Amino acid sequence: MKLQSLAILSSVALVSANWAKNLNYRSPSEHHPGLGIAIHRVVKRNDPASPWDPAKLNFTHGVASGDPYPNSVILWTRVGPTSDNDKSNVTVSGYVPLYNHDTDEYVAVSKSPVCVQYKVATDKALNQVVDSGTVYTSSDIDYTIKVEACNLKPYTTYYYQFNVCNSNNVSPLGRTKTTPHADDDVTNVKLAVYSCSNFPFGFFNAYGNPVRKDSVDYVLHLGDYIYEYKNGDYGWGQTIGRVPLPDREIYTLYDYRKRYATYRTDLDLLASHQQFPWIPVWDDHEVSDNTYRDGASELNNTESSFIGDGGVSVDQRKMNAVRAYFEWMPLRQVEMDDNLRIWRSFSIGKLFDLIMLDTRQYDRSITDLYWNTDYIHEISNDAGRSMMGSRQEHWFYNQLSKSSKRDATWRIVGSQTVFSRINESLAYGNVDPLDYDAWDGYQANRNRTLSHLYNNNIYNNIFISGDSHASWVSDLVWLDDKPYDMKTGAGAIGVEFAGSAVSSPCPYGHNISLANANKYTQWLVAANDELQWSDLYYRGYYELDISTTAVLAKYFGLPTVVSRNNYEISLANFTVNLNDNKLARPVAGGIVESGTLKGGKTVETNLTVDTGNGTWFVSQFNLEVL
Ligand SMILES: *[C@@H]1O[C@H](CO)[C@@H](O)[C@H](O)[C@H]1NC(C)=O
Ligand SMILES: *[C@@H]1O[C@H](CO)[C@@H](O)[C@H](O)[C@H]1NC(C)=O
Ligand SMILES: *[C@@H]1O[C@H](CO)[C@@H](O)[C@H](O)[C@H]1NC(C)=O
Ligand SMILES: *[C@@H]1O[C@H](CO)[C@@H](O)[C@H](O)[C@H]1NC(C)=O
Ligand SMILES: *[C@@H]1O[C@H](CO)[C@@H](O)[C@H](O)[C@H]1NC(C)=O
Ligand SMILES: *[C@@H]1O[C@H](CO)[C@@H](O)[C@H](O)[C@H]1NC(C)=O
Ligand SMILES: *[C@@H]1O[C@H](CO)[C@@H](O)[C@H](O)[C@H]1NC(C)=O
Ligand SMILES: *[C@@H]1O[C@H](CO)[C@@H](O)[C@H](O)[C@H]1NC(C)=O
Ligand SMILES: *[C@@H]1O[C@H](CO)[C@@H](O)[C@H](O)[C@H]1NC(C)=O
Repeated sequence: MKLQSLAILSSVALVSANWAKNLNYRSPSEHHPGLGIAIHRVVKRNDPASPWDPAKLNFTHGVASGDPYPNSVILWTRVGPTSDNDKSNVTVSGYVPLYNHDTDEYVAVSKSPVCVQYKVATDKALNQVVDSGTVYTSSDIDYTIKVEACNLKPYTTYYYQFNVCNSNNVSPLGRTKTTPHADDDVTNVKLAVYSCSNFPFGFFNAYGNPVRKDSVDYVLHLGDYIYEYKNGDYGWGQTIGRVPLPDREIYTLYDYRKRYATYRTDLDLLASHQQFPWIPVWDDHEVSDNTYRDGASELNNTESSFIGDGGVSVDQRKMNAVRAYFEWMPLRQVEMDDNLRIWRSFSIGKLFDLIMLDTRQYDRSITDLYWNTDYIHEISNDAGRSMMGSRQEHWFYNQLSKSSKRDATWRIVGSQTVFSRINESLAYGNVDPLDYDAWDGYQANRNRTLSHLYNNNIYNNIFISGDSHASWVSDLVWLDDKPYDMKTGAGAIGVEFAGSAVSSPCPYGHNISLANANKYTQWLVAANDELQWSDLYYRGYYELDISTTAVLAKYFGLPTVVSRNNYEISLANFTVNLNDNKLARPVAGGIVESGTLKGGKTVETNLTVDTGNGTWFVSQFNLEVL
């Protein structure tokens, strides 16, 4: 008896090990009894004698890759019998409901798992195969597939494709790239940096432009990849044919899945995922507005707020959001037992370390929930407040030290929200000059970061951030503590590049005019010493060109996002020279295209293009037909 059950156990374990190759069966938690998928139950449903008819299956949302390492990379696709998403909820107490025999309601979702093969090769024709495998997916994980491609060489381009087992029903061909080995000398790496892509506010042209230019190695996303709102509450999708589904505010697992599925119909987003490996982190809207460890802006954790929030508890909504995020985004879960952990780092040769933080969902102290702004203002300088929690904070400071000790040339720190202090008192009528939902509401955490950098002589730091829907470029300084000369930049310990939104609207007015936007930036740049350039008008993104001697930041603005197009304007270019720890002077060469440059000029080059929807100033664009 004993021997026999051992044998059964080990064969189940073997099968599970194979099945577990689809990492989504293990996220967000492998061992948590309420959050894990019971893989053995999925295996039981498998009937190899009657596989899916390949003609009944579709690769519904393209391919994606992400979290590149020197020898491996994550590959993603979705293949299923329907482009709709799985409607079964993962119950708090246990496993995915199979199907309801009484109502026959979930017959479709309880079908046998889908078998998929994948290939990774050095050539587009997929002749020089370096890795391949077989994986399964099923309704339990919304027919998503996430595998780790292995046996790869550092800093090398690869092509990959999935197919339904034993058939020529194939996915689109993807391209990806590994990172250099930590000890490798690399002279140059290019990144595109994004945040705040809101489907009903506009087309994701910003994602497509680096694909059309083939201008970067990797794509970073600093969060707000999706928004949880109902169209109309925030967004005018009905005017541009982009109402995100489901057409309501999202709470359930199905809701979050459906929302990702809608976003992944944008052709420029699909193209970016297909062409570049992504390294994403979430901000608040992947769950809901102004989330922190224990809640969000529309939640008071009371019985009535619970009912108002769709009858889904804070924890359940967050876990729905987190599960869908791991299912749909091509990232690794670096610690399987910590289901909220996405903070992680990458060593990109000797050139730089990339430290991606989670200042939002993991362990953030209470934030501005709009009705408590005065209170958050009062406590914003409390020593006990943290945006990350002590575990992540310690990890963060250690990463900075380790990076400096190993002599990596640069440290790039990805933060959801803007790190530098920004006094917006004019705009907000002198009442609450700071954004307490950004680092300004967690001054002790910012001080600990700055003190760690200054006290340990950790140099060549580039902070990158999103969240604010506007562009802010600052010297990285410890105001009121370390002397700083805004003319020369002396006293700074690095630079912050905060980027505008892919499509989310300007925080100073959704349809603000260029003239009004520039009036605000004139005040903001004058009121904040370390703020060297700001633009509020343009939606856009920036590229970082990182080399052994300098980091260049190139900001691009999109003349219009109400249609799909490839127009873009070069707004400003910045240089940070090695060991300077500040923006090179004259900042941006003394001239920018838009916004306000401290001590410099704004010159519109006034090339115009008629988009058919009005005339736009465009200084640089590519007329190649999409
Ligand atoms: C698969 O995609 C094709 C082409 O878009 C479509 O005609 C077909 O209905 C889809 N099949 C399923 C099962 O969704
Ligand atoms: C999933 O949860 C939502 C919200 O609680 C509920 O409306 C829906 O009926 C649930 N679906 C299933 C299959 O339990
Ligand atoms: C939360 O509580 C505050 C203070 O009592 C109140 O002003 C606010 O309206 C409440 N918000 C919700 C969503 O219940
Ligand atoms: C913000 O600027 C206003 C106007 O210059 C000033 O009165 C106020 O003290 C500043 N607040 C902070 C927190 O720096
Ligand atoms: C943080 O540093 C500032 C000086 O920039 C100081 O005014 C403030 O009191 C410090 N706060 C804490 C909690 O250390
Ligand atoms: C802003 O522009 C959008 C898109 O053109 C339009 O749908 C919306 O009504 C405008 N909003 C206001 C307040 O003018
Ligand atoms: C930025 O640099 C590029 C060359 O890399 C140049 O074409 C562009 O005009 C510059 N933009 C500005 C605003 O100076
Ligand atoms: C560009 O256009 C603006 C606004 O119409 C105008 O004030 C400015 O003189 C023009 N600049 C050039 C160089 O033509
Ligand atoms: C103009 O805008 C409409 C939607 O408002 C869009 O369908 C159309 O493609 C746009 N035309 C151009 C040339 O951008």
